[in-house]
Amino acid sequence: MTEITKSAHGAWSSRFTFILAATGSAVGLGNIWKFPYITGENGGGAFVLVYLACVLLIGIPIMIAETMLGRRSQRNPIETMELLTEEAGADKNWHYLGWMGVIAGLLILSYYSVIAGWATAYIAKAFVGSFFDADGTAIKTLFDDFVASPVQMIFWHSLFMAATLLIVVRGVNKGLEKAVQWLMPALFVLMLLLVGYAMTTDSYFQGLHFLFAPDFSKLTSSSVLTAMGHAFFTLSLGMGAIMVYGSYLPKGVSIAQTAFIIAGADTLVALLAGIAIFPIVFANNLHPDTGPGLIFQTLPIAFGNMTGGWIFGILFFVMLSIAALTSSISLIEPAVAWLVENKNVSREKACIWSGLAAWLLGLASIFSFNIWSNVKFFDRTLFQLLDYLTANLMLPIGGFCIAVFAGWIMKQQHSEQELNMPNAQSYQVWVVLTRYVAPLAVFFVFLHVVGVL
Ligand code: PHE
Repeated sequence: MTEITKSAHGAWSSRFTFILAATGSAVGLGNIWKFPYITGENGGGAFVLVYLACVLLIGIPIMIAETMLGRRSQRNPIETMELLTEEAGADKNWHYLGWMGVIAGLLILSYYSVIAGWATAYIAKAFVGSFFDADGTAIKTLFDDFVASPVQMIFWHSLFMAATLLIVVRGVNKGLEKAVQWLMPALFVLMLLLVGYAMTTDSYFQGLHFLFAPDFSKLTSSSVLTAMGHAFFTLSLGMGAIMVYGSYLPKGVSIAQTAFIIAGADTLVALLAGIAIFPIVFANNLHPDTGPGLIFQTLPIAFGNMTGGWIFGILFFVMLSIAALTSSISLIEPAVAWLVENKNVSREKACIWSGLAAWLLGLASIFSFNIWSNVKFFDRTLFQLLDYLTANLMLPIGGFCIAVFAGWIMKQQHSEQELNMPNAQSYQVWVVLTRYVAPLAVFFVFLHVVGVL
């Protein structure tokens, strides 16, 4: 390892740490906070089905493609695109793909850190016993009072951003690896516990029905776009996070196999979150379409009323904050890696500048929940706009370009060599999905949304 770390670019110490780190990037607020509330807003079952189809047919092939591009070049996303464009003798405009990823990462980080700040604030609330014996109304008031206060939100947002930077500054081996090694299993166990609680409510089957019985009349073209966008968001695809992590992956590790493991774990956590949350929603006469506050208005009810809820509540929000942390570090890593490797900036300075930019923009999201809640563009608050722009537009466009580049531009002989699949058929399946299925699916969803279809 010492040999590799001497260069500017680090490397994972094993395949297992790559899986942990990439799963750490994938599993985060997207699974536990976002998946339930957008499922609630988009009518449940049918939306979930579209999301699952997108993960399988678009997400996994693109995850393989993105990891492969990173590993081939062993550089940050911007240089990866420069290098591989040259190798393939392709048009220089492909360079912009790397840029878009770096920018999308910082844009997402800006509001991601705000919501992660909520999770961190809720550790404190759990600790002082705010959930104790509380009913739905008390928990809602607690949440409403919290988001009405810019000062409190700025405090937690700053704290979370500082934690992100502290880890990223230490670099890939020391910082990122350590953070993810114990978190994933612990988080998983806590999710199971919450599912156990959901089973004790008398709305368990109503929750399951909402989540898994598809009613296609509830599906609009905009919910299909949201489901597709979420497949990218939750798997950390389309902006270079997985590319950067792939670039730290030792040669010779099977990329396809790891992609399946990562996507499988990610999907499982999201479904568990849904199974835990919706029964609580119905049991307490709450509405599935409550919006971004959904988990903060439901899970505390469970913690307030179950035996041992005090400690489980604390543990849950600690886990959620750390899950968010292992994602946020991957949101900023492309920008930092580029500044360090390309601009000769020190890792410290690179972290400070990128972190500051995302922190400042985060203020806009904070205010959109209170003092700027009436400021709207295209009928959306600034937070909603940033979320839409990144998750629904930039990530799918980035993913589309990655698929086209890996499937059409890169020489097949290179991708075949890099992927090194166990047999020719698996490689062919990937080629078909990456060349045709994934890009066409993204394309048609977009056409549908702009009303052409
Ligand atoms: N996948 C992360 C989550 O679900 C968010 C993320 C998106 C991280 C894009 C990196 C890149 O919380």
